[in-house]
Amino acid sequence: MSRYQRPDHYTRKARAEGLPARSAYKLEELDEHHHLVRRGGRYLDLGCRPGSWSSWIRRQAGADARLLGVDVEPCDGYPGTFLRMSVEDLTAAQVAEVLGGPADVVLSDMAPNTSGARDLDHLRQIALAEAALAVAERVLAPGGAFVCKVFDGRDAPAFVQAVRERFTTVRRHKPKAVRSNSREFFLVGTGFRGAPADPAPAG
Ligand SMILES: C[S@@+](CC[C@H](N)C(=O)[O-])C[C@H]1O[C@@H](n2cnc3c(N)ncnc32)[C@H](O)[C@@H]1O
Repeated sequence: MSRYQRPDHYTRKARAEGLPARSAYKLEELDEHHHLVRRGGRYLDLGCRPGSWSSWIRRQAGADARLLGVDVEPCDGYPGTFLRMSVEDLTAAQVAEVLGGPADVVLSDMAPNTSGARDLDHLRQIALAEAALAVAERVLAPGGAFVCKVFDGRDAPAFVQAVRERFTTVRRHKPKAVRSNSREFFLVGTGFRGAPADPAPAG
């Protein structure tokens, strides 16, 4: 077994605590700093498989919380309503129907199948982050929060700026559970203000 595959502290902890994957501890740390999850509430988890973020949310938010997970791959045992589809095809009406109203938090841990080509993987991942932001701005309640994985690289600053235009506060955070050789970080936007108005037509 390679060094990368050897179960680390977070993998062993996830197994011991009955969570599907170690990534739950990324969200746990983000929540400690940014206070995203409360009792009850409406949560949309984009790229939710195998379900560790949503399982962690369910434990914190309780049985009354509404939870919708979306992924292109199947997600057995999802602790809420699961839709197997691409985020690009998800409509605001589908989200509102499941959540029963606007979302309090939209989360995206989406990642493409990596090719090993650094720039290509970055661009594919930024496209997923942009798709998540497009969904968030259609379904979030005013004041709501957005959590989004980003692979750092050339187009990351423009994406950070797009998030800044929509949220009162935006923080960049690399949780301890992110592997040290990874380019991934998370953006946390709080205080959703709505999508920026389109510029007035010229002339
Ligand atoms: C890192 S995993 C998510 C882990 C999850 N947060 C957890 O803690 O269990 C990334 C997921 O994004 C999904 N994904 C990639 N592209 C997607 C797309 N276009 N629409 C929906 N999900 C997508 C992948 O199938 C994969 O399951």
